[in-house]
Amino acid sequence: MKVMNFVSPEAKIGKNVKIWHFAYVGSNTTIGDNVKIGSLAHVDYNVQIGSGTMIEGGVYIPPLSRIGKNVFIGPAAVLTNDPYPPSKKMIGVTIEDGAVIGARAVIKAGVTVGKRGVVAMGAVVTKDVPAGKVVMGVPARVAYTRKEFDAKMKVWENSRP
Ligand SMILES: CC(C)(COP(=O)(O)OP(=O)(O)OC[C@H]1O[C@@H](n2cnc3c(N)ncnc32)[C@H](O)[C@@H]1OP(=O)(O)O)[C@@H](O)C(=O)NCCC(=O)NCCS
Repeated sequence: MKVMNFVSPEAKIGKNVKIWHFAYVGSNTTIGDNVKIGSLAHVDYNVQIGSGTMIEGGVYIPPLSRIGKNVFIGPAAVLTNDPYPPSKKMIGVTIEDGAVIGARAVIKAGVTVGKRGVVAMGAVVTKDVPAGKVVMGVPARVAYTRKEFDAKMKVWENSRP
């Protein structure tokens, strides 16, 4: 079956990239190898996405966003680039390598999510997320460490269904 989506001919797409149905990728956007972009995702122009990153369905990524390698962005998460729209000035969100962004999180323009930082589902992130920390809530606050998150993931994976 033919996958219906729009990928600008001016986008640079790496090897083994999967872009699912009705996703959009704008011009001058660079996508690294082995990236997955889910259905209905909007990846605008002038965006950079590092290799191995997974972008789930319905995610919104505006111009100037910078996303590192092996990042996970959960369904319907929204990155923003204009704090006072529609202003004439935009600033992108930066998400560093290995970070996890939960479903329906919203991230303020100009914020950096540090390396291996975690943003909980539904969080509204108004300030930088320190590397290796988990933030939750509205507004998002540091709750615990990535080390603890990884330990919880292991317990979860090893528990009976
Ligand atoms: C952040 C997260 C990892 C926390 O999970 P957890 O550590 O198991 O947390 P718990 O469920 O034990 O809850 C601990 C406390 O945090 C609160 N909490 C949990 N998740 C929260 C969230 N997303 N926002 C606000 N508070 C949250 C709980 O209500 C609880 O509060 P309490 O102590 O006052 O009762 C998890 O909620 C999350 O967002 N995971 C990402 C899921 C996702 O987006 N997946 C996408 C793929 S489908």
